[in-house]
This record gives sequence, structure tokens and C-alpha cells, in this order.
Amino acid sequence: MAYIEFRGVNKYYIMGEKKIFAADNMNFVIEKGEFCVILGPSGAGKTTLLNMLGGMDSCDGGTILLDKREISSLNERELTDYRRYEVGFVFQFYNLIQNLTALENVELASEICRNSFDPRQTLEAVGLAGRMDNFPAQLSGGEQQRVSIARALAKNPKILLCDEPTGALDYKTGKHILQILQDSCQKTGKTVIVVTHNSAIAGMADRIIQVKNGTILQNEENKQPLPAAQIEW
Ligand SMILES: Nc1ncnc2c1ncn2[C@@H]1O[C@H](COP(=O)(O)OP(=O)(O)OP(=O)(O)O)[C@@H](O)[C@H]1O
Ligand SMILES: [Mg+2]
Repeated sequence: MAYIEFRGVNKYYIMGEKKIFAADNMNFVIEKGEFCVILGPSGAGKTTLLNMLGGMDSCDGGTILLDKREISSLNERELTDYRRYEVGFVFQFYNLIQNLTALENVELASEICRNSFDPRQTLEAVGLAGRMDNFPAQLSGGEQQRVSIARALAKNPKILLCDEPTGALDYKTGKHILQILQDSCQKTGKTVIVVTHNSAIAGMADRIIQVKNGTILQNEENKQPLPAAQIEW
């Protein structure tokens, strides 16, 4: 049985007379410990897919499984626990709390979790040993994204979900962030899923899932993923 599985997943929005399918019979699997890239143009349904997997959005049909558990049938209370303990999120615009320091942002996340990692050590691991007492506004975009990765990792989640994590960063900083995500996948065995419209990022993935118009075009394994430092766009 696959670690993550979508079986016939649907999600639609009613807009007047029209029914817009953000997910239209999505089927795919992802194995444990993989670095998976979800690729597709704007409006393809990437964020919808990620939010349904992360328990932030419900589906209108089908089954979503993570580690033998049916996420798609959890009630609100169970979903809160699921998001809290099992999922780490990294967003395009970091979503840090502005009046808390880097360390406090990470502590806030780790304190609500069992088996969480030490916030200081996690910040050190992403190269921010010297910036723990800075507020987000005192950090560069790349540094803020590293805080947000540390915040997600410190929870010790089962899966790390990243929605366009390099979308707001320059080329060099973006590659550094991807390297950190790839390293955390390889060193900790975490399953990491990165959503992007940048096809160059696919080269570093163990698995590439292509999405268009709410459907899965392709789900391919890459036996020779490149280190993030070697991909170019
Ligand atoms: N709340 C909503 N109401 C109506 N339509 C929505 C809503 N959220 C998403 N959609 C539609 O669902 C489709 C998929 O949206 P989604 O945000 O998942 O795309 P995406 O692949 O993440 O795009 P992008 O790369 O621009 O972030 C789009 O057609 C979008 O307009
Ligand atoms: Mg999106």
C-alpha cells in the first residue's frame, strides 16, 4: 500500500450556473520518504491538491489516504489534530508571526506538538544560528523562508507540504531553499511535497506529478534525482 494515495478525488466550486472542477477525478500515489514535485500551470489545481492532503480543505468525493489513514473521512476535531501533529506547511510568503522572533515562531509550533524537535537546533540546521532573536522584518526573504521551514520541521510532522516555496525568492536564494528541503528529505526520511509551476525543479525530485485542469497528466518516478545545486532555470 502506498504511503499517500488519492483515489478518484473531486473538488468543485459552483460559480453561478457553472461547476468549476479544481480536482477532477485525481488518482496518484506517493511513497514514504520521497521528494515529490507537483508541477502544473496556474489554475491547474496544485494548491487545491495540497490543501486537501494537508487537511486544510475538504474534498467533494473520492478518498485521500496517508499512512493507512483515511484523511478524507476525518471530522473537524480529528482534522485539527491531523494538521497539528502530522503536517508541516511551508508557504510562498512565509506566513511568520511578525511580532515574534525567529526562535519564538519556531517554539510556538513545536510547543503544540508531541515528539517535536528542539527549536534552536532546528534553526541551526537551516543555517540561522546567529539570527534566532531577530524579528521577521529584520530578515531577508530567504532567511524568513528558512525560519518557516524550521517551524514546519520542528513539529516533526509525517509530511512536509510546500506551496511555491521559492516563488518569492531570487534564483540563488531559491536554490538554497530547495537544497534545504532536499536535505531534510534525505537526512530525516520525511516525505516532502513541493508544488511549483517551475519545471526545472522537477529534475531534483524522486517523483514528478503533473497536474492540469484538475487532473493528473503524469506520475513518474525519477531514479536519478539531481542535487538542488545542479538544477538550473
Ligand atoms: N474558493 C474558490 N472559489 C472558486 N474557484 C476556486 C476557488 N479556489 C480555487 N478555485 C479554482 O480552482 C482551480 C484550481 O485552483 P488552484 O488554486 O488549486 O490552482 P493552482 O494550480 O494552485 O494555481 P497557481 O499556480 O496560480 O497557484 C482554479 O480554476 C481556481 O480558479
Ligand atoms: Mg496555487
